[in-house]
This record gives sequence, structure tokens and C-alpha cells, in this order.
Amino acid sequence: MLIARTLPDLRAACLRLRRHAEALAFVPTMGALHAGHRSLVARAVASGAATVASIFVNPLQFGPNEDLSRYPRDEPGDLGALEAEGCALAWLPNVATMYPPGEATAVLVRGPAERWEGDARPDHFLGVATVCAKLFGQVRPDRAYFGEKDWQQLQVVRRMVTDLLLPLEIVGVETVREDDGLALSSRNRFLTAAERAVAPALVRALRGVAERVGYGEPAAAPLAEARAALAAKGFGVDYVALVDGTTLAPLERDAPGARLIAAAKLGSVRLIDNIRIG
Ligand code: PAF
Repeated sequence: MLIARTLPDLRAACLRLRRHAEALAFVPTMGALHAGHRSLVARAVASGAATVASIFVNPLQFGPNEDLSRYPRDEPGDLGALEAEGCALAWLPNVATMYPPGEATAVLVRGPAERWEGDARPDHFLGVATVCAKLFGQVRPDRAYFGEKDWQQLQVVRRMVTDLLLPLEIVGVETVREDDGLALSSRNRFLTAAERAVAPALVRALRGVAERVGYGEPAAAPLAEARAALAAKGFGVDYVALVDGTTLAPLERDAPGARLIAAAKLGSVRLIDNIRIG
């Protein structure tokens, strides 16, 4: 696996890969890779493309009350995982490369970036969209792979790619879960043993709502009951909502492409999850 840490090295490595591969696939990450990230790389590699993965903990998507320094980092472990999945090139830029001195440009996505995570984490999607636009410009992939776990992020990136006419395809990959249903996340490691035991209640609550809404029941009562049940288990519920899967606008009942989304805090860890209906 090639490793690039500067833009000239990245450009040379991408040119080299392009000479032999019919397509370049890209998996952007912030490191601390788990089986969910590995599944993105595996999907990209299985598509036959030469696969590039980036590791960059993006300061712009962290709010003032979110602890950037606490974000888990494990470069040797991450590089080993990428290589094991067949990644051809790891791109590890530093902050000065991504945000040159005097930088004055950011990408603001409205629509799907408003509400939910957009309300809870002001400017989070500004940071995500900006860094993704930069990474896409650097790597120039034919397709980029994103986990469905961050459903709203996936829709924000799709909207940005459509609106900025960027020449790549965005591929969503299904969430990887533990046996008890908990969605994999780099933040799960911060759960205490007691919190870890309770955490799968989040997806179970979503599944309960999905069943009722899928049978045609209006969403309001099942959503309110799910919020109350989660609060009773000790979650600080931010939202549990039924939304249009593309625009993230709230829905009152099931509709084609509908998605159930949730965010709730357990101790110091904010968990998010989502499922489709049916
Ligand atoms: O999902 C993530 O890990 C990050 O938001 C991403 C897409 C790598 C941008 O920093």
C-alpha cells in the first residue's frame, strides 16, 4: 500500500494508480477504523477500482463544546486495517495542507443539512462538506463510499456533489452492527460497561417504531413512546423522527424512501442511528 502525506506525493501516487486501474474509488475517514470502515474499503476494492482511503481528523466539523483532542487516533492500526482490506493508497494530510494559512472558503449546504444533526451540531455539516469537497478535489475519485450509519451526512454529501456538479458517484454502504444491534462507531469505546449494555435499546426502539409505522399507523404516537422509553432507560434523547430519506424533512406517516433517525446521549457519548421502514 502506498502512503502519501503531502499533495505532490498524493498526485504522483494517484497518477500511478490511474495508469493501471480503470477507476479510482475513495473512502474518506477520520481514522480509528472499525469493521464499519473496513466494509466501505472492502466494497470499494470489490468494485475493481484502485482504492484510496484518507485519514484526517477534520477540526472544522467539531463544535466548540466537542472535544477534538479526545477523538481516538491509531495511525499504525488504521494503516494495517487499510492494507489488510486491499486499499492501494492511504492519504494522510495534515491540517496546514487541508486548511492553508488565510483560508477563507467553506461549503454551505442547506436543505438536508438543516434540522437534526444540523441543529444539534451547528456548523458540523459545513465542516463535513468543506473537507469532502477538498478531498474529492485532491483525489479526484470516480466514486466515494460513505456509511449509511451517518445517514444525514450521506444525504448532505450527495446534495453537495449534485449542486457543485462534481464528477463522482456517491455510494452508500449499509451500517455494520454488533450482534446485539448496536451500530459500530468510533465513539462506542467511550461507553462504560453499563452504558454499553443499554446502548442497543436505541436501535430496538427504532425497530419498534418501524414495525408500527410500516403497518400504516401515524408516526406521532410510536415516536413519542420510543422517546419516553429511551428516556426511562437513561438516554438523553435528542430526537427520534420519521423523515424523508433524501431531504430529511419530517414525515407524519410512512412513505417511499422514509427513514427513521435517532440521536441520544448515554453518559458522555452521543449515539446516532437510523433504519429504513420494512
Ligand atoms: O464520517 C466521517 O468519518 C467524516 O465525517 C468524514 C466523511 C471522513 C469527513 O471528515
